[in-house]
Amino acid sequence: MVKPPSTSIWITMQRKRLALMILLGFSVSTVVVILLRSTFDSCIVDHQFVEEKFQSASNPLTFMKSKLVLLVSHELSLSGGPLLLMELAFLLREVGTKVVWITNQKRLEEDEVVYSLEHKMLNRGVQVMSAKSQEATDTALKADLIVLNTAVAGKWLDAVLKDNVVKVLPKILWWIHEMRGHYFKPDLVKHLPFVAGAMIDSHATAEYWKNRTQARLGIKMPKTYVVHLGNNKELMEVAEDSVAKRVLREHVRESLGVRNEDLLFGIINSVSRGKGQDLFLRAFHDSLEMIKEKKLQVPTMHAVVVGSDMSKQTKFETELRNFVQGKKLQNYVHFVNKTLTVAPYIAAIDVLVQNSQARGECFGRITIEAMAFKLPVLGTAAGGTMEIVVDGTTGLLHSAGKEGVIPLAKNIVKLATQVELRLRMGKNGYERVKEMFLEHHMSHRIASVLREVLQHAKARGLQ
Ligand SMILES: *[C@@H]1O[C@H](CO)[C@@H](O)[C@H](O)[C@H]1NC(C)=O
Ligand SMILES: *[C@@H]1O[C@H](CO)[C@@H](O)[C@H](O)[C@H]1NC(C)=O
Repeated sequence: MVKPPSTSIWITMQRKRLALMILLGFSVSTVVVILLRSTFDSCIVDHQFVEEKFQSASNPLTFMKSKLVLLVSHELSLSGGPLLLMELAFLLREVGTKVVWITNQKRLEEDEVVYSLEHKMLNRGVQVMSAKSQEATDTALKADLIVLNTAVAGKWLDAVLKDNVVKVLPKILWWIHEMRGHYFKPDLVKHLPFVAGAMIDSHATAEYWKNRTQARLGIKMPKTYVVHLGNNKELMEVAEDSVAKRVLREHVRESLGVRNEDLLFGIINSVSRGKGQDLFLRAFHDSLEMIKEKKLQVPTMHAVVVGSDMSKQTKFETELRNFVQGKKLQNYVHFVNKTLTVAPYIAAIDVLVQNSQARGECFGRITIEAMAFKLPVLGTAAGGTMEIVVDGTTGLLHSAGKEGVIPLAKNIVKLATQVELRLRMGKNGYERVKEMFLEHHMSHRIASVLREVLQHAKARGLQ
C-alpha cells in the first residue's frame, strides 16, 4: 500500500516547487497564475500545517486565536503596502484569527492581479468584503481590532462608517509605510491622534511623521510603535539554497550577457528620480574612470537597473538611457522591466545599491532581502537604510544628493578591488538578517503591538 506523504514532506515538496516557480516566473502574469495554482494545490496541506502551528505555544501571535480582525487596504496590488498587509493576514490566519479584508478602491472587475490576490486570500481563509457594504460597517463595529494600512486608508473611515467612526477609533491600529509630504492632509489623517496606535516601519519615518503632523496640521501622533519588517520564509529558503541560487544566478547573467566572473552591481527599485538611478549610473561611470586612471586590477564591471517602466517615467528613463549611450556603456549597463520576482536578480548580483534620495527609504525591504543573499549594500545615509545597514560592517553608506556621487563611486571601487571585504560584509549582513530581520522577529514585534491595542480597546469599554 502506498502511504500518503507526511505533512513535512509535502511542505518540502511545495517549497521546492515554489523555488522552481521563482526560477521560471519571470513575468507577473506567470507568477500570478503560479501563486494561484500553488495555493489551490496546497490548501489541504496548509490546513494541517495550521493545526500544527496552533498547538505550538512558541508562535507569538497565538493569543490572537479566534479574535476578529478587520484589515483595511487602500488598494489591492503587487506593491509593498498591500503585500505586507496580506502577509499579516496570513500570519494571523496561521493562528486561527478570523480575518476580514476590505479594499477601499474602485473595483476593476477584469483586473487579473486583483482577482488572483483575492483568491489567494480566500484560499487561506481570509474573508473579502466590499469596502462600502453594510457588512463592512457591521464587521468594523464587531471587530476586536482594525488595521488601517497606509495613510490613504484613512479616507475609508468617514466615507463608510460616518457617525460610527468615534466608536471604532480606540481599536484602530494605523500601519504607515510612507514618508511623503502629500499625506499630511486633514481628510486623510485627521483621526490619527485618536486611534489606539500607529505602527511605522522605521524610526526615521516615525520621527518624520511626528514632526510633520505637528508642524503641518497641529495634530499629535497617537502612541507610535516602530516595527521593522522581516524577510518571509519563501525568500529565506531561496537565499539559503545554494543550488537554487546558482541556477538563478546563471540564468539571469546569461540573459543579460554578464559572465560568471564579472562583477555585477544592481539597483532594484521602481525607476524614478527619488530612487536615484541617475546618480548611481553617474557614480558607476565615475568608478570606471577611477579604475582606469589608477590602473587597478578588477574584473569586468556591470550594472543592472531592475525596475524599468518606459510607459510611466518616460522622460527619466530616456535620460538614463541617453546617459548610458553618451558614455558608451551599453554593453555594461542593463535595464530590466519592473517585476515582482526580484529573487533571481538578487541572486545574480554581487552588490546591492540602495540609492534612495532625500529622506531615503521608509524601510527598504529590498535591503534586507539582499542581505539574506549575503550581499553587501552600498546605501544612502538616509531613512530606514541607516537602521538596517551598519556602515563599514554590512555595507558602506554615502550621502544622498549630488554630493554622494563621488563617495559612492569610491565605495564601488573599494568593493570591486577588495574581494575579501565584499564577501565579509555580505556575510555580516546575512548574520544581521538572521538576528533581526526574519519573519518571526516581525511577528514578535507585531504581537506585542497587537496585545497593547487590544488592551487599549478593552480599557475603553470595547471588546
Ligand atoms: C524632527 O525635528 C527635530 C527637531 O526639530 C529634528 O532634529 C529632526 O531632524 C526632525 N526629524 C525629521 C525626521 O524630520
Ligand atoms: C519592457 O517594457 C516595455 C514597455 O514598457 C516593453 O516594450 C518591452 O518589451 C519590455 N521588455 C521585456 C523584456 O519584457
